[in-house]
Amino acid sequence: MPNIIVVGAQWGDEGKGKIIDLLTSNVRHVIRAQGGNNAGHTINIRGEDFKLHLIPSGILQPHTQCYIGAGTVLNPQVLLEEIAGLEKRGIGVRGRLWISKTAHVILPHHIVIDSLLEKRKGSLAVGTTGRGIGPCYSDKALRIGLRMGDLLDRDRLRTHLTDLMALKNEEIVKVYGAEPLDAEEIVRQYADFGQQLEPYLSNVESQISHAVTTQEGVLFEGAQGTYLDVTSGTYPFVTSCNTVAGGMCVGAGVGPRHIDHTLGIVKAYSTRVGNGPLPTEIAENFVDPVAARELGTTTGRQRRQGWFDAVLVKQAARMNGFDSMVVTKLDILDELSHIKICTGYLLDGQELDRLPTDPRDWEKLEPIYQILPGWQSSTREARHWDDLPTNAQEYLRTIETLCETPISMLSIGPERDSTIAILDLFSKKETSHR
Ligand code: IMP
Repeated sequence: MPNIIVVGAQWGDEGKGKIIDLLTSNVRHVIRAQGGNNAGHTINIRGEDFKLHLIPSGILQPHTQCYIGAGTVLNPQVLLEEIAGLEKRGIGVRGRLWISKTAHVILPHHIVIDSLLEKRKGSLAVGTTGRGIGPCYSDKALRIGLRMGDLLDRDRLRTHLTDLMALKNEEIVKVYGAEPLDAEEIVRQYADFGQQLEPYLSNVESQISHAVTTQEGVLFEGAQGTYLDVTSGTYPFVTSCNTVAGGMCVGAGVGPRHIDHTLGIVKAYSTRVGNGPLPTEIAENFVDPVAARELGTTTGRQRRQGWFDAVLVKQAARMNGFDSMVVTKLDILDELSHIKICTGYLLDGQELDRLPTDPRDWEKLEPIYQILPGWQSSTREARHWDDLPTNAQEYLRTIETLCETPISMLSIGPERDSTIAILDLFSKKETSHR
């Protein structure tokens, strides 16, 4: 069984959850290896919506073992609520979910500082999800962070949190003029979380290492998207970890040699939540945000919309090393009379084939568009490539050519079967003849 990385090619919200859920029917192991509950997947199974923020979407397939790797940051309370929510709906989690002891813990001060800092940043505000992600990763980088394994030893936990909270309360009070947090109460609460989560804590890195080397099939479930990567994304409007395929190897503790296929998930147009560049943004949304479920799963904020940006997706294909792409939400474009694809940018009259790195240039960018005719008919019932209208096929072929990456699957609705498989990633055979 191949080991597959699934990664978002844009700014997150590409519809990875459904694709991961589908691919999971063929693998035994699914791991989340970066980010935290800033992520959110909505998966529709037989008309029922499941919203997951931390637990890999693979949990919805009964045969899988699911893991949360060292590269993630975990809010134990959210995790416990998510476990309880799934169990209540009849999805067994105990004995199927394993959490790395070296994943970092999101603490109350991370969430408090996330919002205090955002308010004080002025023009530097990013529009974070307010889940404490950035402050948790900064404590990790400062080497003062708390890890999941530390929750299990009450004495060690007390020592760590007493020193850490002295430092953080000083910051909260003196820098932000806010109320200090009660360190003793945090020790009590987090020791209790540790007790509840103990059955799930394990050496995930060894388990994954064994699974990849024995070719049992591991799916690496990416969160966020390529342009939210702290190093390669549209900095500073990014999250605080490496969201590209390489980041997932680090977060899961495996070398790139073990990856057999890197799959990019690409929405048929562009969206983003929060601040930052979206070069093809359109003032008037071309699709109803509610009908298209263009509301962020985590914060419920409306996603900004734009045309497909082939410059960025091609760049993403190179940065991640995509072997193939899945194009999602094609049906959202069904009614349009014409559809634009961005093939380059003009900056002060000069043509560019990459996004400039200087944020001051982003506002001045003028997208260069190739305009294609729409298909103005429903693709929702299509199940094979040949069922698609000719203009939809043309749109997809243009994307493949511009992004220099073959399309292996299409998604034309939220349900599991609203899918067209073109290349079987497991047998590498074409399944829908073109
Ligand atoms: P943070 O990750 O909460 O610090 O937020 C930083 C930026 O990343 C904000 O613009 C968020 O909206 C965005 N972001 C973080 N996680 C996701 C995600 O899973 N999907 C889409 N946007 C995200």
